[in-house]
Amino acid sequence: MAVSLHVVEHPLIADSLTRVRDLHTPNALFRQELERIGTLLIAEATRSLPTHAVKVQTPLTETNGRTLTAQPVVVPVLRAGLGFLHAAQDLLPNADVGFIGVARDEETFQPKPYVNKLPERLAGRQVIVLDPMLATGGSLAHTCHLLVERGATGTIIVVCVLAAPEGIQYLRDSGFDLAVYTAALDERLNDTAFIVPGLGDAGDRQFGSPA
Ligand code: PRP
Repeated sequence: MAVSLHVVEHPLIADSLTRVRDLHTPNALFRQELERIGTLLIAEATRSLPTHAVKVQTPLTETNGRTLTAQPVVVPVLRAGLGFLHAAQDLLPNADVGFIGVARDEETFQPKPYVNKLPERLAGRQVIVLDPMLATGGSLAHTCHLLVERGATGTIIVVCVLAAPEGIQYLRDSGFDLAVYTAALDERLNDTAFIVPGLGDAGDRQFGSPA
């Protein structure tokens, strides 16, 4: 059991991340850039998915190809995780999709669950959790508990844009087996548990404030 952290360094990610951080970026562009980062991160995060050999007939001859051995289960954490869902479905069009809804209480910072729509059985499936922000780690820990309850085993892949050191430490202390792929490991959390320097609220910047 361990939490491995992969900060994916790529000039296109860095370029998009700058616009995503920029307070002047309008919501439509924010969503576009977030999805672009998601595509690049998910491509990296799925590098080790197992494949097996198949034969393929080209217009000229038969040759060797490879195909994914099993389809993963993709789990966006509502709301902000929806920003990565199109990217995930573009790359993994046959993946199953489960949904977790969890809102962080902005006074206690505790996760308040409101949706749990996961496949019944996750044993033997590769699960990929999508949530742009890993702040205290509470929402992700809640999500992982639900995944383990459904039988998830092995390393859960997590894709986020920004992670805070405090959240990574919390997940390590919680004993989960995770591989976290992120565009950046930011400096810290502030006293309202927002990631600094951060990008603000990834849900609000995609969908507006729910209040
Ligand atoms: C944000 C973010 C994560 C969570 C991270 O969601 O999208 O899900 O907070 O914080 P944590 O690591 O401290 O739990 P939020 O609760 O604001 O909901 P939203 O996605 O609907 O905006």
